[in-house]
Amino acid sequence: MAGGRCWRAMDGRCRARAWSAWVGAVLFAASAVASAAPDLELGRYLSAECVTCHGSASGAPASTIPNIYGRPEQALVEAVRAYRDKTRANAVMQNVAGRLKDEEIEALAAYFATIRRPP
Ligand code: HEC
Repeated sequence: MAGGRCWRAMDGRCRARAWSAWVGAVLFAASAVASAAPDLELGRYLSAECVTCHGSASGAPASTIPNIYGRPEQALVEAVRAYRDKTRANAVMQNVAGRLKDEEIEALAAYFATIRRPP
């Protein structure tokens, strides 16, 4: 039986096989984690559009437009989805949200939840 001999002898070829199986498992686990967590870098990138209206993290608040910094992730996801689904009225935000995919909304929410505009 080849398998049994492999475990007992642990010659070079067997070790190489075990090693590549281990590396494969680690890479698989890493990619699973990456796709499950929202992408902060993507959020930061996409936020450039939002901050032209919602104010920048360092700049003055933009008039009457609500502050969305530090907003809980889930609340922001729900608000943007509501605009996208047109269950929440606002032509401007419906237009902005209409261009966003779910994963982009999640990335934006994760990003805005992590930063607060200075007072
Ligand atoms: C052209 C200007 C403009 C841009 C660009 C814009 N917004 Fe808005 N946003 C608004 C306005 C105006 C409102 C208030 C709408 C209302 O009264 O419902 C708003 C409201 C919101 C709200 C609801 C806030 C609350 O207090 O309930 C969220 C969340 C939001 N925007 C997220 C975003 C995100 C994320 C982006 C970038 C993808 C973005 N906005 C880009 C103008 C803009």
